[in-house]
Amino acid sequence: MTDFQHAVIQGIPEELPKPKAYDQSVSHSPTRRNNLSVEEKKLAIRNALRYFPEKWHETLAVEFAEELKKFGRIYMYRFRPDYEMYARPIDEYPAKSKQAAGIMLMIQNNLNPKVAQHPHELITYGGNGAVFQNWAQYLLSMKYLSEMTEEQTLVMYSGHPMGLFPSHKNAPRVVVSNGMMIPNYSSLEDYDRHNALGNTQYGQMTAGSYMYIGPQGIVHGTTITILNAKRIIAERFKRDAKEPVLFVSSGLGGMSGAQPKAGNIAKVISVVAEVNPKAAKKRHEQGWVDILVDDLNKLVKQVKTAIAENKIISFGYIGNIVNVWEKFDEENIHIDLGSDQTSLHNPFNGGYYPVGLSFEKANEMMAAEPEKFKEHVYASLRRHVKAINKHTAYGTYFFDYGNAFLLEAGRAEADVMNDNGKFRYPSYVEDIMGPMCFDYGFGPFRWVCTSGKPEDLAMTDKIANKVMTNLMQKSPKRIRQQMVDNIVWIQGARENKLVVGSQARILYADAWGRIQLADAFNKAVKDGRISAPIIIGRDHHDVSGTDSPFRETSNIYDGSMFTADMAIQNVIGDAFRGATWISIHNGGGVGWGEVINGGFGLLLDGSSDAKNRLKSMLYWDVNNGISRRSWARNENAMFTAKRAMDNNPKLKVTMPNLVDDSIIDELKF
Ligand SMILES: NC(=O)c1ccc[n+]([C@@H]2O[C@H](COP(=O)([O-])OP(=O)(O)OC[C@H]3O[C@@H](n4cnc5c(N)ncnc54)[C@H](O)[C@@H]3O)[C@@H](O)[C@H]2O)c1
Repeated sequence: MTDFQHAVIQGIPEELPKPKAYDQSVSHSPTRRNNLSVEEKKLAIRNALRYFPEKWHETLAVEFAEELKKFGRIYMYRFRPDYEMYARPIDEYPAKSKQAAGIMLMIQNNLNPKVAQHPHELITYGGNGAVFQNWAQYLLSMKYLSEMTEEQTLVMYSGHPMGLFPSHKNAPRVVVSNGMMIPNYSSLEDYDRHNALGNTQYGQMTAGSYMYIGPQGIVHGTTITILNAKRIIAERFKRDAKEPVLFVSSGLGGMSGAQPKAGNIAKVISVVAEVNPKAAKKRHEQGWVDILVDDLNKLVKQVKTAIAENKIISFGYIGNIVNVWEKFDEENIHIDLGSDQTSLHNPFNGGYYPVGLSFEKANEMMAAEPEKFKEHVYASLRRHVKAINKHTAYGTYFFDYGNAFLLEAGRAEADVMNDNGKFRYPSYVEDIMGPMCFDYGFGPFRWVCTSGKPEDLAMTDKIANKVMTNLMQKSPKRIRQQMVDNIVWIQGARENKLVVGSQARILYADAWGRIQLADAFNKAVKDGRISAPIIIGRDHHDVSGTDSPFRETSNIYDGSMFTADMAIQNVIGDAFRGATWISIHNGGGVGWGEVINGGFGLLLDGSSDAKNRLKSMLYWDVNNGISRRSWARNENAMFTAKRAMDNNPKLKVTMPNLVDDSIIDELKF
């Protein structure tokens, strides 16, 4: 047995490990807000000590109190394992169940310092997307996974392993819930309190569900978005597809940093402004943005040349985005596509830097003079929108990219509303992702090669290319473009060097495509073309998995966007149709209390069992959302629901009857 295997099986060590030094070589989460009373602080320590034998309590109580004071949370740093954290090949995990070993692999990938944002605080991405609340939970969960059989299920309550419970072979091996609160106790203050007490955590989407695959997912999503935005302007303005397209946006941070790379793949000229020079340089060094410029006049000159030569290139401008919009207007540079990816979901704590203040001054002011800083943010947003409005008057297509830009600009009383009291610009889900992808069932299907071998990933790429190409030839004309985009993506995936962490891939496929892909992978595992099981899953940002009125379900117009039945039904349905693990979360993307989202993982081991499961589960996992979107009268979803019923007599979806607008318009109230 290796040291690693021994450590996993041991769980909480028998000997108290030595305290660990605070490691400055990795990124750490900021000190968390902590609104606990003295009595509640005592409760938090009492709660944390439940994981440990009594003989350690005196020592650990003092240490945890110190962590709570210093970091706002109790991470139990001392218990962070000594072994390296990364996804090992599946056979290296000590386990009685391959499914459980697959889950261990995915957990370790989410905590790999190359993948995770704040690995020592167990945060994978998005600032607070947690895999576990503390290291005791990690150790205990890995131990349970190492000993469980296929007649048990591990139950996870917001990072806490409640235990192994007897179940059966076809049950999920792990059931995860994160951040589930009684609705009236789901404010941000409640989150701070209950997270500090050790009762709940923010699982984001794929952090607390062990399904994150590094930045590849966001590069793919952004590529699809830009490609479809290009099509919108081509149709709207009857443009020649060969004309150069200039895309302007902001943010070279965690997710936003994908924009220039996606811009290159989607073949546009992109300009992305970033106020933080460190963030800009990091993305440049990683090869995600081609050229950095810190002088507006130089930027103008280089952009004009790129347009004249129709040269696909990405520029990172080190400075404020507002200055770019204004300068390009003065210089008559036509912007074809525009968006924004500053972190406006967090406007007053470093998410949005107001124009006119230096980066350093802004950082100072937001802590020392928060009210004054807020005024600067709002004034900047008004100026920002004014500059965008000038460009859109000349035909720029501007869209909100899921960062609360329109929401905050509206709060700042920027000129962002139209005469009907609605935002004058669409969100990317309303115009692009919703009608063009989700309503047809296309969403972020992904897979991980558990051997960890690049050659297995290359084989899956080859299989995926073949499956998608065959399907494309037989598919209705209106979805062929989505297929083509994903075939182009998969053909270029290797060359675009997208793997960070586990050997994983993403593409958008509909229900039929996902089933065909998974079935082909399962066959390849069976006949040995792929050397170890494949894990399939998806981002929660999908057709059926997420109810989020300002993002995933923003193109639902029957008023039901504030309900969460779809996400809940989805996860329940996935559970009894064969998922290896399932998860349901409060929060993710737009924030705590704003969204309910869920996902799954399924291990394909080449067996006929796996084949039955993938067929049953994937079919439901997409058609649930199609049915809901169809009931909301979304035309493309109605088309897809009818198509699904034509192909399967067991499916009976309740279809809406459409009422003539004139009947409604003539009603007097
Ligand atoms: N639509 C989607 O699928 C999707 C996906 C990911 C993220 N998002 C949203 O996009 C936003 C960005 O996410 P992230 O992970 O990149 O966040 P991040 O905080 O890592 O990056 C945002 C960057 O914007 C920069 N910035 C702030 N104000 C600026 C200004 N005025 N001018 C120029 N640069 C400025 C910041 O310095 C920061 O580096 C978030 O609100 C997130 O929720 C949407």
